[in-house]
Amino acid sequence: MAQDAAKGEAVFKKCMACHRVGPDAKNLVGPILNGVVGRTAGKVEGYKYSDINHNAGEAGLAWTEDNIVKYLADPQGFLKGYLTEKGKADKAVGATKMAFKLPNEQERKDVVAFLKTK
Ligand code: HEM
Repeated sequence: MAQDAAKGEAVFKKCMACHRVGPDAKNLVGPILNGVVGRTAGKVEGYKYSDINHNAGEAGLAWTEDNIVKYLADPQGFLKGYLTEKGKADKAVGATKMAFKLPNEQERKDVVAFLKTK
């Protein structure tokens, strides 16, 4: 399935309830997403993550394109699944603070294409 960064920029408006990207971006409800594609989960300085998001990063979760596409469909389920696969189900504690899901797969792919440019 093709990805369209321009369409993804429009999708990102939904994320802007909680996230910013760009040179002046600051942490809001959610962490800044500059350079998120390729970075390790839970590592934005000055942002207080939930335990489950933090623990997934400690267990090695990297925000590849594919992982973000899966995560956005069900953040809690994705983080729990990741930790469980790593044999660290005991670290899948509590709830992620990201209480938002993006059910449309094409929108997920497009928004990741947009984030890759940031
Ligand atoms: C975390 C992406 C929408 C609130 C994250 C992370 C990503 C992400 C990749 C993990 C960051 C990291 O580990 O450094 C997105 C995208 C969105 C979106 C692409 C739109 C499609 C939202 C919305 C909200 C939100 C609308 C608020 C209602 C949060 C919060 C966290 C987070 C609070 C921290 C999670 C935690 O510590 O458990 N988001 N997000 N996000 N997001 Fe979003």
